[in-house]
Amino acid sequence: MTDIQTTSQIDVAAAEEFADRLIGMFDGACATLMVSVGHQTGLFDTLATLPAASSAGIADSAGLDERYVREWLKAMVMARIVHHDPEADTYRLPAAHAAWLTRDAGSDNLARLMQYVPLLAGVEQPIIECFRQGGGLSYAQYPRFHQLMAEESAAVADAALVEMILPLAPGLPGRLSRGIHVADMGCGSGHAVNVMAAAYPASSFVGYDFSEEAIGVARAEASSLGLTNARFEVQDVAALDDVGPFDLVTAFDSVHDQAHPAAVLANIARCVADDGTFLMVDIKASSMLEDNLELPWGTFLYTVSTMHCMTVSLGLGGDGLGTAWGQQLAVSMLQDAGFGNVEVMDVEDDPVNSYYVATKA
Ligand SMILES: C[S@@+](CC[C@H](N)C(=O)[O-])C[C@H]1O[C@@H](n2cnc3c(N)ncnc32)[C@H](O)[C@@H]1O
Repeated sequence: MTDIQTTSQIDVAAAEEFADRLIGMFDGACATLMVSVGHQTGLFDTLATLPAASSAGIADSAGLDERYVREWLKAMVMARIVHHDPEADTYRLPAAHAAWLTRDAGSDNLARLMQYVPLLAGVEQPIIECFRQGGGLSYAQYPRFHQLMAEESAAVADAALVEMILPLAPGLPGRLSRGIHVADMGCGSGHAVNVMAAAYPASSFVGYDFSEEAIGVARAEASSLGLTNARFEVQDVAALDDVGPFDLVTAFDSVHDQAHPAAVLANIARCVADDGTFLMVDIKASSMLEDNLELPWGTFLYTVSTMHCMTVSLGLGGDGLGTAWGQQLAVSMLQDAGFGNVEVMDVEDDPVNSYYVATKA
């Protein structure tokens, strides 16, 4: 008996079951693309406000072209997302589905998440070239990345940052109310910083990111909110020196795609005050592949890693840590950087991330 199975040795039932699963994946991927379109065009938000309506009525309410809306609705019916009444030729989004697909759903809006699939597909050809030649891509090759990331993280910040996330560190809300110095590393479009600055006017906040585009968005939001205690700087956090000390440093999903994550963690440890706190938010996963098999979005984690997080790090000549670097490696890198105490926690509104509260003592 060799390792290579001949056709006659294949378990036919298992092969057919596998083929069915592949076809399900293919159809699901197409539904994902259409859900992303539904989110971006506002069609789910429109549908949620309407009773059963014709494609013309839905297109009219959404201000969109009827022919495209009709074809999209048919795809949504095939995906069992929208109900169709063949007699009346009307379409309806059940409330139980709207609860996961509309902007009103806040951090529960899964349609927002689906946008990552077309975003990643946009770099498929350059990624294939990376498979052949090595190297990586630059952030500039993902024109919608900052917008999507900001949409996704803002939902969590709005739902849970002040009420649930900051209280994970004992005594932190009280210290923020009394007034402390806070830095956010890899702040992106800065919404989390602005939310904290608005909630804690006695504290001062600085957000660092090397993306001029993201820092521009962050500054514009701070200014539109009239915040005088939040500032933003275009800064490579791997080259941060002579800043701090800060009583609190945060990093929201910005460590795993660093080119030089160990250097960044060492910089953070240097600029956190001796009695200060580092709150690191990063993808919830195990460092052991086999532990991640039960994660409902496990394939997504390694896909987004291959097509973005690992790849932008490699594009800067970096380590290519990967999205699912995992809890074990994260804790050991935090300890190596000088954080003797690391606690790992969960937040209900954010099932995708783990919350690391690290102190030096
Ligand atoms: C996954 S995004 C997270 C953004 C933001 N914290 C949020 O939650 O929306 C990672 C961010 O880290 C920034 N970044 C990556 N490496 C950086 C570096 N060496 N210095 C500064 N910013 C960096 C990227 O520009 C990006 O905005």
